[in-house]
Amino acid sequence: MKTVGIIGANGLVGRTLQQEFKKITVPFETKLFGRNDDISALDAAVLCTDNPDSAALYEKLKDRVRFLVDMSSQFRLNKNVPLVIPEINSDAITAQTRLIASPNCTTTGLVMTMAPLMAHYHLTEAFFCSYQAISGGGKKLLEDFRTPGSLYANNCVPLIGSVQDNGYSSEELKGIYETRKILRLPRVKVYPHTVRVAVENAHSLGVTLKAEEAFDLQQVKTLWNTFPNLTYSDAIVTPKEASGREETFVCRLRQDAEEPNVIHYFVTFDNLLKGAAMNGRQIVQFLLENFL
Ligand SMILES: NC(=O)c1ccc[n+]([C@@H]2O[C@H](COP(=O)([O-])OP(=O)(O)OC[C@H]3O[C@@H](n4cnc5c(N)ncnc54)[C@H](OP(=O)(O)O)[C@@H]3O)[C@@H](O)[C@H]2O)c1
Repeated sequence: MKTVGIIGANGLVGRTLQQEFKKITVPFETKLFGRNDDISALDAAVLCTDNPDSAALYEKLKDRVRFLVDMSSQFRLNKNVPLVIPEINSDAITAQTRLIASPNCTTTGLVMTMAPLMAHYHLTEAFFCSYQAISGGGKKLLEDFRTPGSLYANNCVPLIGSVQDNGYSSEELKGIYETRKILRLPRVKVYPHTVRVAVENAHSLGVTLKAEEAFDLQQVKTLWNTFPNLTYSDAIVTPKEASGREETFVCRLRQDAEEPNVIHYFVTFDNLLKGAAMNGRQIVQFLLENFL
């Protein structure tokens, strides 16, 4: 029986992944590891840990675990590490792969809506402003949010991660560089703006997308609705409905009032599911079916 570990099993993503693993349709055994546990040899493991912990765990485990899937941003832009959303680019994983990165949750919501359009449109620019849930910051932020006097209560906070030398936040830079890598569009321009809002779970983005061609709105809706785990709705969908669901929901599609090659829309999805644990579960299912 193949063994797959969840490392960081007591965090928000780790706990969600424990539930997600029950949906895997190939037989395997799950092993759970917390902070101070000794980790045995495994066929695969998902690191549900923050950057420095993931880096240290990778060094410790790389010779003991055949496939490591990392949820943190530590390895995402390393050119030898595939950055994978199975609906989009599972072909980036090969028999030689040992380490796979799962993308930033906000970037996931953006690229899930861009990828289906690429067969018909040459996408050149994407602007987004995010409305990111508290659970995206891990269990400590959720505890802070539930503590009286939290900065995040009844508020929106326009900084996620740390401010970089060029003034961008680290979260915003992920939106630029991860989008280019996942979509294999090295020249696409991404204009990100990331904001934490007082919503417990499920991220949202307002997106503006530009292509070389004029958009046909009916075709865009059809492309979205025929893409796996993506649903367009003419009715509004909010994080309340998206929380706990596997689909990425899109609504409010409209053509720009002046430029037919520009569209605007709203995206909402469960950051702990498609933004993290569901994506990890899909990668593990792919590995079990194809490489283990
Ligand atoms: N939350 C999201 O929506 C989301 C989305 C996409 C990606 N991610 C990424 O996923 C990772 C986990 O996020 P999270 O929200 O689950 O954070 P979290 O709630 O803070 O959980 C992190 C867990 O890692 C554990 N841990 C730390 N060092 C460890 C070690 N050496 N061995 C085993 N476990 C260890 C922690 O243990 P203790 O319980 O002892 O502290 C904690 O339970 C992060 O890299 C995050 O950026 C999160």
